[in-house]
Amino acid sequence: MRAVLKIGGSLLYDDTGKVLTDRITKYAVSVRALLKEGHQLVIVVGGGKPARTFIGAARDLGATETQCDWLGIKLARHNAELLCVALGEAAYPRVVEGLDELETAMCSGRVVLMGGLTPGQSTNAVAALAAEVVRGAKLLNATDVDGVYDKDPDKPGAKKLDTVDIKQLKTILAATSARAGEYKLFDPVAVRIVERSKIETVVFDGRDPENLLRFFKGKKIGTTIVHGQKEDT
Ligand code: UTP
Repeated sequence: MRAVLKIGGSLLYDDTGKVLTDRITKYAVSVRALLKEGHQLVIVVGGGKPARTFIGAARDLGATETQCDWLGIKLARHNAELLCVALGEAAYPRVVEGLDELETAMCSGRVVLMGGLTPGQSTNAVAALAAEVVRGAKLLNATDVDGVYDKDPDKPGAKKLDTVDIKQLKTILAATSARAGEYKLFDPVAVRIVERSKIETVVFDGRDPENLLRFFKGKKIGTTIVHGQKEDT
């Protein structure tokens, strides 16, 4: 199987900002096993707590949104480097910084890592764009919730959806922020790419790295984004 795995930066840090090296190691072990089984993987890592800390400080200091975005882009690349280190020989040794470089890196037969790409989007857009480049790739979004909810999961009565149509997803996301460091789940660019190429996408709880292996074993995890089919009620 070809897949682009997006690992939310929030999964790599605890509340104090400490790097969760055990979790990174667990992901590396699972990804190496998948590579051995013949699966092709691109991994996009998000900016997480350091991105939010730097973006918050830069904004207080009067930075433009573009300057804030560049901080997030670079910090996401640094986070990708951590996974690159944990994967060792299994990883293409350089974090890929452009989509043109992605195709070349894929030819290495190793796991390819990416962070941010360009201002005005989140790493979910990077992952969606990578899934377009890697033809037929599924998009697996490992995040810190167990799937997509019909409203903000912190609000009372919010219900987790097993499947969600891309159009319903757009309505759910319409209320969320589009400022640097504040994207929740999917930013508008990511949604547009997933929709235009009908990319098979799954949003799942990445706090348990075993979920990744469960998916590759054919088990149902998280929420599947569908295109033009009946959604949950
Ligand atoms: P993300 O918001 O994608 O990080 O990137 P994340 O870790 O996946 O998010 P969480 O922690 O799981 O919620 C951090 C910031 O970097 C900038 C944006 O400002 C984004 O909010 N960024 C990232 C870009 O501008 N362009 C990119 O291609 C990627």
